[in-house]
Amino acid sequence: KRHLISAADLSRDDALLILDTADELAKISDRSIKKLPTLRGRTVVNLFFEDSTRTRISFEAAAKRLSADVINFSAKGSSVSKGESLKDTALTLEAMGADAVVIRHSASGAPHRLAGWVRGSVVNAGDGTHEHPTQALLDAFTMRRRLGPLDGRRVTIVGDVLHSRVARSNVLLLSTLGAEVTLVAPPTLLPVNVGSWPCEVSYDLDAMLPKSDVVMMLRVQRERMNAAFFPTEREYSRRYGLDRDRVARMHDDAIVMHPGPMNRGMEIAAEVADSPRSTIVEQVANGVTTRMAVLYLLLGGADLGGEIRQ
Ligand code: CP
Repeated sequence: KRHLISAADLSRDDALLILDTADELAKISDRSIKKLPTLRGRTVVNLFFEDSTRTRISFEAAAKRLSADVINFSAKGSSVSKGESLKDTALTLEAMGADAVVIRHSASGAPHRLAGWVRGSVVNAGDGTHEHPTQALLDAFTMRRRLGPLDGRRVTIVGDVLHSRVARSNVLLLSTLGAEVTLVAPPTLLPVNVGSWPCEVSYDLDAMLPKSDVVMMLRVQRERMNAAFFPTEREYSRRYGLDRDRVARMHDDAIVMHPGPMNRGMEIAAEVADSPRSTIVEQVANGVTTRMAVLYLLLGGADLGGEIRQ
C-alpha cells in the first residue's frame, strides 16, 4: 500500500504487520539503538494545518529515528495565510522532493484529495471529524502490549464520539482486529449513522465498566460544538466522567486510555489519568514506535540489517 488515509484501508494482515513491525522496532530501541539508517536519503514532510502536540512531534521523532530528512510545515506563518490553496501548497512541497507527506487538516477528506496530487505517500494525521488512523494503531499497539491479542477483548469508548476522528478510526481498526467495541455517549454526541458502525452503543457507562478490558475516554471537543447543545461541565462529568468511584467498578487488569489532550476534571479525573491503570503516557511513547513502523512499511525502507529479525 502507498498511503494510509483510513483505518478501513487496513486488512487484518496489514494491521498485524504494522503492529508486529512496531514490536520489533520497540525491541531495537530497548537495546539502546536510537537511530536506524533505513530511510536515509528519504524526505518526510509534516504538513500541519491544525494544532498538534503529540502527533506532530512523534512523526518528527519517528522519521528522524529512521534517518529520514524531515521538513516541518505549519500553516501558521506560511503562505496559507495569504490564501494559498492546499493543492498549491502540496505541489510546492512535492517540488522539494517529499517521499511522504504527513497531513493534519480541519477538513475531513483533505488527505484523500492530497493523495491525488502528490507522487509520494500520504499519511493521515487527523482530518476534521473523519479519521486518525495512526492514533488507532498506537492505541491497538498499547492494548496488545498490556493485554495480549485483541480478539474478543471488550473496549468501551466514552464521550464525544460525534467530533472524534479517534473514535471512528479505533472502531474500524479494533473490529478488524477482533475486539468488541461499545460506544458510550450522550445521544447528542453520537453521529447519526452510528448504527452502521461495526460496534454496539450504550448510554449506561456504569453498566459497561465491569465488562470492559479497556475504557477509552475521549476529549470533549468544545471548539467543534455549538455551546447551546452542550450540557454543563458538572452534568457531563456526573454522567460520563471517569472518576475514582467509577474506576473501582472495573476489573483488576482493565486499563484506562485517553488519546490526549485531556480535559482533566471533565471527562477524566486527574487521579485516574495519573494512576497505574492509565496508559496515557505509554500511548505517547508507543506513538513514536508505531509511526516508525508506518513510515518504514510505506516507504519500503532498506533492510534493517538483521536487527528487525533478531
Ligand atoms: N492525540 C492527538 O492526536 O494529540 P495531538 O492533537 O496533540 O496531536
